[in-house]
Amino acid sequence: ITIYVPQDSSAVSVGADEVAAAIEAEAGERIRLVRNGTRGMLWLEPLVEVETERGRIGYGPVTPGAVPELVAAGMLEGADHELRQGPVEELPWMRDQQRLCFARVGVIDPVDPADYENHGGLSGLRKALEMTPAAVVEEVTSSGLRGRGGAGFPAGIKWNTVLQTEGPTKFVCCNADEGDSGTFADRMLMEGDPFCLIEGMLIAAHAVQATEGYIYVRSEYPDAVRTLRRAIDAAYSAGWLGERVLGTELKFDLHVRVGAGAYICGEETSMLESLEGNRGMVRPKPPIPAINGLFGKPTAVNNVLTLASVPTILADGAQSYAELGVGRSLGTQVFQLAGNIARGGAFETAFGLSIDELVNGYGGGTRSGRPVRAVQIGGPLGSYVPPEKFGLPMDYEALAEAEAMVGHGGIVVFDDTADMAAMARFAFEFCAEESCGKCTPCRVGAVRGVETIDKITGGQDRDGNLGVLNDLCELMTDGSLCAMGGLTPNPVRSALAHFPEDFQKEAK
Ligand code: NAI
Ligand code: SF4
Repeated sequence: ITIYVPQDSSAVSVGADEVAAAIEAEAGERIRLVRNGTRGMLWLEPLVEVETERGRIGYGPVTPGAVPELVAAGMLEGADHELRQGPVEELPWMRDQQRLCFARVGVIDPVDPADYENHGGLSGLRKALEMTPAAVVEEVTSSGLRGRGGAGFPAGIKWNTVLQTEGPTKFVCCNADEGDSGTFADRMLMEGDPFCLIEGMLIAAHAVQATEGYIYVRSEYPDAVRTLRRAIDAAYSAGWLGERVLGTELKFDLHVRVGAGAYICGEETSMLESLEGNRGMVRPKPPIPAINGLFGKPTAVNNVLTLASVPTILADGAQSYAELGVGRSLGTQVFQLAGNIARGGAFETAFGLSIDELVNGYGGGTRSGRPVRAVQIGGPLGSYVPPEKFGLPMDYEALAEAEAMVGHGGIVVFDDTADMAAMARFAFEFCAEESCGKCTPCRVGAVRGVETIDKITGGQDRDGNLGVLNDLCELMTDGSLCAMGGLTPNPVRSALAHFPEDFQKEAK
């Protein structure tokens, strides 16, 4: 009997390790215990799955104390119980997704190369290795894949720049410094299916002709770092990394580097500085990293989910990927539902479904049961979107037109007790805390922003200070060197536009 208990840190944070130990103690030699990734239904964690003839049956949320009773009730055979959720693949949350990137997350043993291959792994890489680098770049370009880190730049065009830039040494760097509030999909992929990221990086290496790669992981993700390192060791042993990858001419070495807790190191040039051993300061662009990146060499810098989308594009063809989505937002995105939400988690689907479907449909509205007041999409630099706009589709262009952004796909929900003036103040506070300090609009502007909001909410020359706030936002948008200072006005302006009444109250 095979039993799956997630080792994903979200499951571990609610007792999955203790549940696994309790199951082993109770069921002893009768079972084979696999520590898988999470299915992304966080409200059900720890979600224990039992392999049966009817598929994998889920039980959750399981507490260690409930294990003896569950085993006695026949959990190992998939029997009925109040915690029994039924066949996992048939649950509405799972059934309605189009899991390409996350196809194996929560399904396989994350560090078992054979399990990965048995579930379709490596077929994208094998196809890519039979193609010329230019043909691989062309395939990725025609799939319409755009950078999933947030900026949405076409991945194939970026790779083409690296491929076309001459140089004996080139790098592929994976940005796994997932710093946005309400985002965790990179972590889940790294903890649940790290070989998918490794395969994506190998395809990128072949496409741009790189020989070395780095995965830059934020320090807050120690479990992901551990899993990645184990997977990389296993990949070397299996002949997927190093000299002669899968017996071909491709050579690719892969390393993991851990950040030191700075949000700005998720900005690509700052990340490269950090990888080089320097303080994470933003570099002016141009030159872009594709031409002059790590140690001055041509470098493909891609987010985890961008790279993890590539194996399926190569395996199934660009066409089938490009058939999903809307407009210029093609393929799937792993949306992440967080904050005050009844059912939080990761939900992968084609672009185009509405905010309402995600937040009130799959997410089930707020956890507090109170009305939703706003959602923030795309991290701490994203706009606040009020319920009147929940009909908007998740689509880069449609959201941009509404002065919002998809970003990395994280949606944070707030109920009607949220003070939006305090949230606007927080945006400036966050920027002041995380600014690298290189340019004045951001370094000084963020501090002035906090002071100005305090004056407004404190009733001090409200009109005059609203004018100052407006000028400040304009200056930061136009004058900042990178997105940190440049996008901080988004949450501020949107809070002011949609919730002006909150700025009338006295400061707390
Ligand atoms: P950007 O628009 O400057 O660049 C996008 C990417 O395209 C970069 O990698 C750039 O080097 C590349 N590029 C541009 N022209 C190119 C060309 N001709 N050839 C090859 N490559 C080219 O945006 P940036 O500053 O990299 O990212 C900003 C976004 O980051 C924001 O929109 C925000 O959503 C997101 N973000 C994500 C976070 C996360 O945790 N995932 C955290 C903070 C921000
Ligand atoms: Fe640094 Fe802020 Fe300027 Fe970006 S905008 S370079 S984080 S000071």
